Amino acid sequence: MYAAWTQKHKPRTVSEIVGNSEAIQKFTEWVKSWDKRVPKKRAAFLYGPPGVGKTVCIEALANDLKMEFVEKNASDYRTAEAIQRFAGLASQYGTLFGRNRLILLDELDGITGTADRGGVRAVTEIVKATQCPVVLTANNAYDPRFRTLRKYCLLIEFKKPTVREVVKHLKKVCSGEGIDAEEEALKFIAERSGRDVRSAVNDLQALAQGKKQLAYEDVAWLAARDRKDVIFNVLRTILYSKDSWEAKRAVDTADMDPDMLFHWIYENVPYHLTDPHDLTKAMDALSLADIYRRRIRSTQNWSLLRYVLDFMTAGVAVARERTEPSGWIPFRFPQKLQWLSRTKAERALQSAVGIKIRRKCHISSMRAVKEVLPYVRIIFESNPEMAAGIAKWLDLDETMIEYLAGNKKQTKAIIAKYG
Ligand SMILES: Nc1ncnc2c1ncn2[C@@H]1O[C@H](COP(=O)(O)OP(=O)(O)O)[C@@H](O)[C@H]1O
Ligand SMILES: [Mg+2]
Repeated sequence: MYAAWTQKHKPRTVSEIVGNSEAIQKFTEWVKSWDKRVPKKRAAFLYGPPGVGKTVCIEALANDLKMEFVEKNASDYRTAEAIQRFAGLASQYGTLFGRNRLILLDELDGITGTADRGGVRAVTEIVKATQCPVVLTANNAYDPRFRTLRKYCLLIEFKKPTVREVVKHLKKVCSGEGIDAEEEALKFIAERSGRDVRSAVNDLQALAQGKKQLAYEDVAWLAARDRKDVIFNVLRTILYSKDSWEAKRAVDTADMDPDMLFHWIYENVPYHLTDPHDLTKAMDALSLADIYRRRIRSTQNWSLLRYVLDFMTAGVAVARERTEPSGWIPFRFPQKLQWLSRTKAERALQSAVGIKIRRKCHISSMRAVKEVLPYVRIIFESNPEMAAGIAKWLDLDETMIEYLAGNKKQTKAIIAKYG
């Protein structure tokens, strides 16, 4: 069995963690201050984007300081009662054996649903009274749900490490695995992952496991960003989980281009949500997402992106109400993307001709393509002499002439008239 490299090459000590040195120092000092007295803020709240080392930093520090480490995560605090059940742990600093205790409540944003009010309140009560350091983590500490809780916490922000820092960690993983990797390849992986160390290490494993060498060419194909396994997982969650939170999370972790994702969902919804009621709901959500997409395009106001994402993930996920389960249905590749990639060369040529026409006719190239190009094409197909004149006037090259003339023979005839 292969182990996940994020696990296998996880930093065991704080010094192995890349990036966020200030945050780590602040956190270390706070934990150490407990040796003298109970500090004013009895909890530290580490927050920031996923995969940058929040959890691993806490584990590593507990290890470095030889503390007893107790970890709780989202599944442990589904309800307020569940949280109170481990409040007792927080009532003493040391253990019977003289080791100090560190309690981690990981991924607080996982407290969901109707339990969340009581859940966050229960956490707050523990934090107020705790006799040992409690550490909280979340992606967003400024969620309004945490308003009261925040007052009792030392807030420590974790930022994305730099590309160089991510590369440093990837290099270490490579040397541990006996892989000789090109710097450019690792840099590419780090950049592509959006400096999310976890996802960078996962990509590295997918690309390099079992290899002795990793070259830039081995990774460059990742640029397409349409890794099918990732997309299929996201689609499956959106179309089948019925859970809006999960659907949103799936996209966060997948790091997909929103436009591309939209096409994938749009293409597949009708095959998977077959009940008309469900399909209407899903399509309504997608149409709202589409309105915001267009608005972003025209205003460049990217803060609207979250509405696009919410409608196309959560909005579609909750649409599944009445569709009867039916066996396995394969996912389809979006026709529109297929069409776009198939016609890419042609469209490029078309707009190049459009620009040539624009220069001479002083109209927009879009109008040129729509209104002028069809006539030019008729001339090129039927009158080589006139076509040659126009080609000269517009300064068209041979590929453009062939595009307009439609075939090689006619192209030759036109070029012959060039004189
Ligand atoms: N800054 C980092 N330095 C080294 N490894 C990291 C770092 N951040 C993440 N990792 C790797 O990614 C895995 C997941 O990181 P984790 O600490 O759980 O991220 P977070 O809690 O911020 O979402 C770790 O087990 C480790 O293998
Ligand atoms: Mg974590």
